[in-house]
Amino acid sequence: MQSEVHWPDAPIELGEVMPDRESVVALLERNAPYLPLGGWFRPDQDDDSPTSRMWFQKTLMGGEVCVEGSEMFVEHAGVLEAMRTFYDAEVIVPHTLFVNLMAGIPDGGPAHTDNPLFRGRDRLNTPMLLLRTMHWSGLFAQWETVQATSIWWMDDVEGGGILFWPDGPHHEPHRHFGAMSNTALVGDNHGMFHQVEPVGPFDQGDYWVTPRAEMGPASDGSGQWAVVDRGAEVYRAALDEIRVSVLLKADVFRDSAQQEQVASDLLSMEDVARIFNQDLKSREIDLVFDLEKVGELPFLAALAAHYKEPRPIGARKSIFE
Ligand SMILES: [Fe+2]
Repeated sequence: MQSEVHWPDAPIELGEVMPDRESVVALLERNAPYLPLGGWFRPDQDDDSPTSRMWFQKTLMGGEVCVEGSEMFVEHAGVLEAMRTFYDAEVIVPHTLFVNLMAGIPDGGPAHTDNPLFRGRDRLNTPMLLLRTMHWSGLFAQWETVQATSIWWMDDVEGGGILFWPDGPHHEPHRHFGAMSNTALVGDNHGMFHQVEPVGPFDQGDYWVTPRAEMGPASDGSGQWAVVDRGAEVYRAALDEIRVSVLLKADVFRDSAQQEQVASDLLSMEDVARIFNQDLKSREIDLVFDLEKVGELPFLAALAAHYKEPRPIGARKSIFE
Protein backbone atom coordinates (compact mmCIF):
# COMPACT_ATOMS: atom_id res chain seq x y z
CA MET A 1 0.00 0.00 0.00
CA GLN A 2 1.41 3.36 -1.02
CA SER A 3 1.90 5.67 1.99
CA GLU A 4 -0.72 8.31 2.70
CA VAL A 5 0.16 11.73 1.33
CA HIS A 6 -0.74 14.59 3.63
CA TRP A 7 -2.73 17.37 1.91
CA PRO A 8 -1.90 20.87 3.12
CA ASP A 9 -4.32 23.50 4.42
CA ALA A 10 -5.92 26.04 2.09
CA PRO A 11 -3.61 28.95 1.26
CA ILE A 12 -3.95 32.29 3.01
CA GLU A 13 -5.21 35.08 0.76
CA LEU A 14 -3.69 38.53 1.25
CA GLY A 15 -4.96 41.79 -0.27
CA GLU A 16 -3.31 45.16 -0.90
CA VAL A 17 0.03 43.41 -0.79
CA MET A 18 2.37 45.81 -2.58
CA PRO A 19 2.02 49.46 -1.54
CA ASP A 20 3.62 50.85 -4.69
CA ARG A 21 2.90 49.37 -8.13
CA GLU A 22 5.34 51.76 -9.81
CA SER A 23 8.34 50.36 -7.98
CA VAL A 24 7.32 46.86 -9.07
CA VAL A 25 7.03 48.06 -12.68
CA ALA A 26 10.51 49.61 -12.38
CA LEU A 27 11.85 46.30 -11.04
CA LEU A 28 10.26 44.46 -13.99
CA GLU A 29 11.65 46.95 -16.50
CA ARG A 30 15.17 46.82 -15.07
CA ASN A 31 15.24 43.04 -15.34
CA ALA A 32 13.91 42.67 -18.89
CA PRO A 33 14.07 40.73 -21.11
CA TYR A 34 12.12 37.68 -19.95
CA LEU A 35 12.70 34.32 -21.65
CA PRO A 36 10.30 31.47 -22.49
CA LEU A 37 9.67 28.96 -19.75
CA GLY A 38 11.97 25.99 -20.29
CA GLY A 39 11.13 23.02 -18.19
CA TRP A 40 12.63 19.75 -17.09
CA PHE A 41 9.81 17.93 -18.88
CA ARG A 42 10.71 19.40 -22.31
CA PRO A 43 14.47 18.94 -22.67
CA ASP A 44 14.50 18.42 -26.45
CA GLN A 45 13.07 21.72 -27.67
CA ASP A 46 14.49 22.96 -30.94
CA ASP A 47 15.74 26.56 -30.74
CA ASP A 48 14.13 27.56 -34.01
CA SER A 49 10.73 25.92 -33.70
CA PRO A 50 7.79 27.99 -32.46
CA THR A 51 6.61 25.38 -29.97
CA SER A 52 6.10 27.52 -26.84
CA ARG A 53 3.22 29.63 -25.67
CA MET A 54 3.92 33.21 -24.50
CA TRP A 55 4.90 32.26 -20.98
CA PHE A 56 8.05 34.09 -19.96
CA GLN A 57 10.04 33.86 -16.77
CA LYS A 58 13.03 35.21 -14.91
CA THR A 59 14.64 34.45 -11.57
CA LEU A 60 15.24 37.59 -9.54
CA MET A 61 16.67 35.79 -6.53
CA GLY A 62 18.04 32.26 -6.35
CA GLY A 63 21.46 30.67 -6.12
CA GLU A 64 24.00 33.42 -6.77
CA VAL A 65 21.40 35.82 -8.18
CA CYS A 66 19.77 38.59 -6.14
CA VAL A 67 18.76 41.63 -8.14
CA GLU A 68 18.38 45.09 -6.64
CA GLY A 69 14.80 45.64 -5.53
CA SER A 70 14.07 41.96 -4.81
CA GLU A 71 13.75 42.87 -1.14
CA MET A 72 10.34 44.46 -1.70
CA PHE A 73 9.09 40.86 -2.07
CA VAL A 74 11.73 38.89 -0.20
CA GLU A 75 11.45 40.98 2.96
CA HIS A 76 7.71 41.66 2.74
CA ALA A 77 6.57 41.59 6.37
CA GLY A 78 2.97 40.60 5.64
CA VAL A 79 3.93 37.74 3.33
CA LEU A 80 6.56 36.38 5.74
CA GLU A 81 4.05 36.62 8.59
CA ALA A 82 1.47 34.69 6.52
CA MET A 83 4.10 31.99 5.88
CA ARG A 84 4.77 31.72 9.62
CA THR A 85 1.05 31.54 10.32
CA PHE A 86 0.36 28.97 7.60
CA TYR A 87 3.00 26.59 8.96
CA ASP A 88 2.82 27.66 12.61
CA ALA A 89 6.59 28.06 12.27
CA GLU A 90 9.13 30.55 13.57
CA VAL A 91 11.88 30.41 10.95
CA ILE A 92 11.25 31.40 7.31
CA VAL A 93 14.24 31.50 4.96
CA PRO A 94 13.34 32.97 1.54
CA HIS A 95 15.50 31.47 -1.19
CA THR A 96 13.88 32.01 -4.59
CA LEU A 97 12.00 34.86 -6.26
CA PHE A 98 10.83 34.69 -9.83
CA VAL A 99 8.51 36.43 -12.23
CA ASN A 100 6.08 34.93 -14.73
CA LEU A 101 4.68 37.00 -17.61
CA MET A 102 1.93 35.41 -19.68
CA ALA A 103 -0.33 36.43 -22.57
CA GLY A 104 -2.40 34.79 -25.31
CA ILE A 105 -2.41 31.28 -23.81
CA PRO A 106 -5.65 29.51 -24.77
CA ASP A 107 -5.22 26.44 -22.56
CA GLY A 108 -4.31 26.09 -18.90
CA GLY A 109 -0.87 25.59 -17.48
CA PRO A 110 -0.22 22.09 -16.16
CA ALA A 111 -2.15 21.04 -13.06
CA HIS A 112 0.80 20.27 -10.83
CA THR A 113 2.54 20.44 -7.52
CA ASP A 114 5.87 22.29 -7.46
CA ASN A 115 9.01 20.22 -7.75
CA PRO A 116 10.09 18.69 -4.44
CA LEU A 117 13.46 19.06 -2.74
CA PHE A 118 14.95 16.78 -0.14
CA ARG A 119 17.86 17.44 2.19
CA GLY A 120 20.80 16.02 0.25
CA ARG A 121 18.78 15.36 -2.94
CA ASP A 122 17.92 18.07 -5.44
CA ARG A 123 17.79 18.50 -9.19
CA LEU A 124 21.57 18.96 -9.36
CA ASN A 125 22.28 15.42 -8.16
CA THR A 126 19.00 13.55 -8.73
CA PRO A 127 16.76 13.25 -11.82
CA MET A 128 13.58 15.30 -11.44
CA LEU A 129 11.36 12.30 -12.17
CA LEU A 130 13.00 10.44 -9.29
CA LEU A 131 12.52 13.42 -6.96
CA ARG A 132 8.84 13.46 -7.88
CA THR A 133 8.51 9.71 -7.37
CA MET A 134 10.18 10.11 -3.98
CA HIS A 135 7.60 12.74 -3.09
CA TRP A 136 4.60 10.68 -4.18
CA SER A 137 5.93 7.58 -2.44
CA GLY A 138 5.58 9.33 0.92
CA LEU A 139 8.66 7.36 2.01
CA PHE A 140 11.00 10.32 2.29
CA ALA A 141 8.81 12.87 4.05
CA GLN A 142 11.23 13.32 6.94
CA TRP A 143 13.90 14.60 4.52
CA GLU A 144 11.60 16.68 2.32
CA THR A 145 12.29 20.37 2.56
CA VAL A 146 9.21 22.19 3.77
CA GLN A 147 8.71 25.20 1.54
CA ALA A 148 6.24 28.05 1.61
CA THR A 149 5.18 29.74 -1.63
CA SER A 150 3.64 33.15 -2.13
CA ILE A 151 2.16 34.05 -5.52
CA TRP A 152 1.36 37.71 -6.08
CA TRP A 153 -0.57 39.10 -9.07
CA MET A 154 -0.04 42.58 -10.41
CA ASP A 155 -3.10 43.43 -12.52
CA ASP A 156 -6.43 41.94 -13.50
CA VAL A 157 -6.24 40.63 -17.05
CA GLU A 158 -8.59 38.77 -19.35
CA GLY A 159 -8.68 35.23 -17.91
CA GLY A 160 -5.61 34.23 -15.94
CA GLY A 161 -7.28 32.84 -12.82
CA ILE A 162 -5.80 30.05 -10.79
CA LEU A 163 -7.38 26.74 -9.81
CA PHE A 164 -6.15 25.15 -6.61
CA TRP A 165 -7.01 21.95 -4.78
CA PRO A 166 -6.82 22.67 -1.03
CA ASP A 167 -9.01 19.64 -0.28
CA GLY A 168 -6.73 17.32 -2.22
CA PRO A 169 -6.83 16.18 -5.86
CA HIS A 170 -9.90 13.99 -5.34
CA HIS A 171 -12.11 17.00 -4.58
CA GLU A 172 -13.22 19.86 -6.81
CA PRO A 173 -10.75 22.74 -7.09
CA HIS A 174 -11.19 26.21 -5.63
CA ARG A 175 -10.72 29.17 -7.92
CA HIS A 176 -9.04 32.57 -7.48
CA PHE A 177 -10.02 34.81 -10.40
CA GLY A 178 -11.42 38.20 -11.29
CA ALA A 179 -10.24 40.57 -8.57
CA MET A 180 -6.70 39.23 -8.33
CA SER A 181 -4.86 42.53 -8.69
CA ASN A 182 -2.41 43.07 -5.81
CA THR A 183 -3.56 39.91 -4.01
CA ALA A 184 -1.36 36.99 -3.02
CA LEU A 185 -1.94 33.38 -2.03
CA VAL A 186 0.47 32.06 0.57
CA GLY A 187 0.65 28.33 1.25
CA ASP A 188 2.16 25.01 0.25
CA ASN A 189 2.39 24.71 -3.55
CA HIS A 190 4.62 21.65 -3.16
CA GLY A 191 1.77 19.77 -1.52
CA MET A 192 -1.29 21.42 -3.09
CA PHE A 193 -2.14 21.00 -6.77
CA HIS A 194 -2.66 24.23 -8.68
CA GLN A 195 -3.20 25.25 -12.31
CA VAL A 196 -3.10 28.54 -14.17
CA GLU A 197 -6.22 29.08 -16.23
CA PRO A 198 -6.11 30.26 -19.87
CA VAL A 199 -4.74 33.79 -20.27
CA GLY A 200 -6.12 36.33 -22.74
CA PRO A 201 -6.29 37.90 -25.15
CA PHE A 202 -8.28 35.08 -26.70
CA ASP A 203 -9.44 36.72 -29.93
CA GLN A 204 -6.32 38.26 -31.45
CA GLY A 205 -4.47 35.29 -32.83
CA ASP A 206 -2.82 32.01 -32.06
CA TYR A 207 0.56 32.86 -30.63
CA TRP A 208 3.56 30.52 -30.64
CA VAL A 209 7.16 31.49 -30.00
CA THR A 210 10.55 29.81 -30.24
CA PRO A 211 12.86 29.34 -27.24
CA ARG A 212 14.75 32.41 -28.53
CA ALA A 213 11.84 34.81 -28.01
CA GLU A 214 12.15 37.65 -25.48
CA MET A 215 9.54 39.79 -23.73
CA GLY A 216 10.30 43.27 -22.45
CA PRO A 217 9.47 46.96 -22.82
CA ALA A 218 9.04 47.90 -26.49
CA SER A 219 12.07 49.70 -27.88
CA ASP A 220 10.04 52.58 -29.37
CA GLY A 221 9.44 54.28 -26.03
CA SER A 222 5.66 53.77 -26.29
CA GLY A 223 5.50 52.34 -22.78
CA GLN A 224 4.05 49.13 -24.14
CA TRP A 225 5.64 45.71 -23.81
CA ALA A 226 6.51 43.49 -26.75
CA VAL A 227 7.56 39.98 -27.63
CA VAL A 228 10.41 39.84 -30.14
CA ASP A 229 11.17 36.46 -31.68
CA ARG A 230 14.22 36.01 -33.92
CA GLY A 231 14.29 39.71 -34.71
CA ALA A 232 10.59 40.24 -35.40
CA GLU A 233 7.99 41.69 -33.05
CA VAL A 234 5.22 39.12 -32.71
CA TYR A 235 3.11 40.60 -29.90
CA ARG A 236 2.60 43.90 -28.16
CA ALA A 237 0.39 45.01 -25.25
CA ALA A 238 0.24 47.37 -22.33
CA LEU A 239 1.92 45.85 -19.28
CA ASP A 240 -1.38 45.83 -17.39
CA GLU A 241 -2.82 43.50 -20.04
CA ILE A 242 -0.06 40.94 -19.42
CA ARG A 243 -0.53 38.47 -16.57
CA VAL A 244 2.34 39.26 -14.21
CA SER A 245 2.83 37.06 -11.18
CA VAL A 246 5.73 37.10 -8.74
CA LEU A 247 6.54 33.96 -6.78
CA LEU A 248 8.51 33.79 -3.57
CA LYS A 249 9.68 30.51 -2.11
CA ALA A 250 11.06 30.04 1.39
CA ASP A 251 12.31 27.17 3.51
CA VAL A 252 10.32 26.68 6.68
CA PHE A 253 11.55 25.47 10.07
CA ARG A 254 9.54 25.08 13.24
CA ASP A 255 12.25 26.93 15.16
CA SER A 256 16.00 27.46 15.02
CA ALA A 257 16.64 24.31 17.04
CA GLN A 258 14.86 22.24 14.40
CA GLN A 259 16.69 24.12 11.63
CA GLU A 260 20.01 23.18 13.22
CA GLN A 261 19.00 19.64 13.99
CA VAL A 262 18.00 18.69 10.44
CA ALA A 263 20.92 20.44 8.69
CA SER A 264 23.23 17.41 8.87
CA ASP A 265 20.54 14.79 8.20
CA LEU A 266 21.17 14.34 4.48
CA LEU A 267 19.71 11.67 2.22
CA SER A 268 22.24 9.78 0.07
CA MET A 269 21.35 7.93 -3.14
CA GLU A 270 22.20 4.71 -1.26
CA ASP A 271 19.55 5.65 1.34
CA VAL A 272 17.06 6.27 -1.48
CA ALA A 273 17.76 2.83 -3.00
CA ARG A 274 17.55 1.07 0.36
CA ILE A 275 14.26 2.70 1.35
CA PHE A 276 12.63 2.07 -2.03
CA ASN A 277 13.85 -1.55 -2.01
CA GLN A 278 12.39 -2.14 1.46
CA ASP A 279 9.05 -0.79 0.30
CA LEU A 280 9.03 -2.65 -3.05
CA LYS A 281 9.86 -5.88 -1.26
CA SER A 282 7.20 -5.42 1.40
CA ARG A 283 4.62 -4.76 -1.34
CA GLU A 284 5.86 -7.85 -3.22
CA ILE A 285 6.64 -5.79 -6.32
CA ASP A 286 9.10 -7.39 -8.70
CA LEU A 287 11.37 -4.38 -9.18
CA VAL A 288 14.73 -3.60 -7.62
CA PHE A 289 16.08 -0.09 -7.25
CA ASP A 290 19.45 -0.49 -8.94
CA LEU A 291 21.86 2.41 -8.33
CA GLU A 292 23.38 1.78 -11.76
CA LYS A 293 20.05 2.65 -13.43
CA VAL A 294 19.35 5.97 -11.74
CA GLY A 295 20.10 7.85 -14.98
CA GLU A 296 17.90 5.60 -17.14
CA LEU A 297 14.44 6.88 -18.01
CA PRO A 298 12.81 3.43 -18.53
CA PHE A 299 13.86 2.42 -15.02
CA LEU A 300 12.66 5.70 -13.50
CA ALA A 301 9.34 5.38 -15.34
CA ALA A 302 8.90 1.78 -14.12
CA LEU A 303 9.52 2.91 -10.56
CA ALA A 304 7.17 5.90 -10.91
CA ALA A 305 4.41 3.54 -12.08
CA HIS A 306 4.32 2.07 -8.56
CA TYR A 307 4.05 5.47 -6.84
CA LYS A 308 1.47 7.24 -8.95
CA GLU A 309 1.02 10.98 -8.98
CA PRO A 310 -2.70 11.72 -8.77
CA ARG A 311 -4.47 13.58 -11.56
CA PRO A 312 -6.64 16.18 -9.86
CA ILE A 313 -10.31 16.15 -10.77
CA GLY A 314 -11.65 19.25 -12.51
CA ALA A 315 -8.27 20.05 -14.09
CA ARG A 316 -8.43 21.95 -17.36
CA LYS A 317 -6.67 20.91 -20.54
CA SER A 318 -3.03 21.97 -20.35
CA ILE A 319 -0.83 23.58 -22.99
CA PHE A 320 1.47 20.58 -22.60
CA GLU A 321 -1.20 18.00 -23.52
FE1 LIG B 1 3.48 25.84 -9.46
